[in-house]
Amino acid sequence: MTTAEIATIQDEVRALARERDAVILAHNYQVPEVQDVADFVGDSLGLSREAAATDAEAIVFCGVHFMAETAKILSPGKTVLIPDLDAGCSLAASITAEQLRVWKTEHPGAIVVSYVNTTAEVKAESDYCCTSGNAKAIVEAIPADREILFLPDMFLGVWLERVTGRKLTIWLGECHVHAGIRPDDISRWQREAPDAELLVHPECGCASQCMAFANDRTHILSTEGMINFAKASPKSRFLVATETGILHRLNKEAPGKRFEAVSERAICKYMKMITLEKLLGSLRDWKHDVTVEPEIAARARGAIERMVAIS
Ligand code: 13P
Ligand code: SF4
Repeated sequence: MTTAEIATIQDEVRALARERDAVILAHNYQVPEVQDVADFVGDSLGLSREAAATDAEAIVFCGVHFMAETAKILSPGKTVLIPDLDAGCSLAASITAEQLRVWKTEHPGAIVVSYVNTTAEVKAESDYCCTSGNAKAIVEAIPADREILFLPDMFLGVWLERVTGRKLTIWLGECHVHAGIRPDDISRWQREAPDAELLVHPECGCASQCMAFANDRTHILSTEGMINFAKASPKSRFLVATETGILHRLNKEAPGKRFEAVSERAICKYMKMITLEKLLGSLRDWKHDVTVEPEIAARARGAIERMVAIS
């Protein structure tokens, strides 16, 4: 699409959103033309907060399905639309509610902390939800004598063990995008740009390795944490170990600084299923409605609200 064609569709999207009283929320990994038309762009935590706070009639969620589901759980009276129902998440798919119920019976009395990248049914079986932006605070708020079942991301779990000094029982799930960022990608860049700041998402398979040789230029951060860090830092060059969609937001929010992806392959095909045309279709045809069964939503909301109360 040409710049003019993009601008025309963006104008149509804005007009329809206004007419239908819809707020457009977009995750930091969305394509640039979707980020640019959104009312709010952020990480899982920020988007959950926006979804809970909005007074718009409807939310159009440009992100993956579990994020739209979280918005619906937090705003049950609102219409929540996702432009493509197939925008899933391989990490969220790595544990089902039935698997979690079995795991809980094997660890009676344990507290279940579920990363936000889970289905509503899994959240409903959990005591606490967490995001990469608040996982440390959630784990630290749980009494030290209680066993914690942490799911589903093993690399985030291992990182949490290191930063909290606490032993966790960890589900062996992973995000294929972040697990695919190899320690070699990091070390190559560290040789080529030794003075650059390294921003690493805790879902990365390399997170624990980075911690092992952590120096004051290595920072393990959520996607929004990366934006805030880059804006505030006096440094000018940053290597980014997460999905490459975030580069657009970094360049926009911290102009004049240099951002490079440590791996150009780090692309989430699910996040990229949401296109500007599908966003327009979503607003025009009022689709696809995201629903969560009320009893599941009520229990899942408990886990999310306990998270919000802490962070
Ligand atoms: P953030 O909450 O850090 O944005 O991460 C969400 C996600 O899906 C990472 O892959
Ligand atoms: Fe899920 Fe990984 Fe995509 Fe994030 S990057 S939405 S964890 S598949």
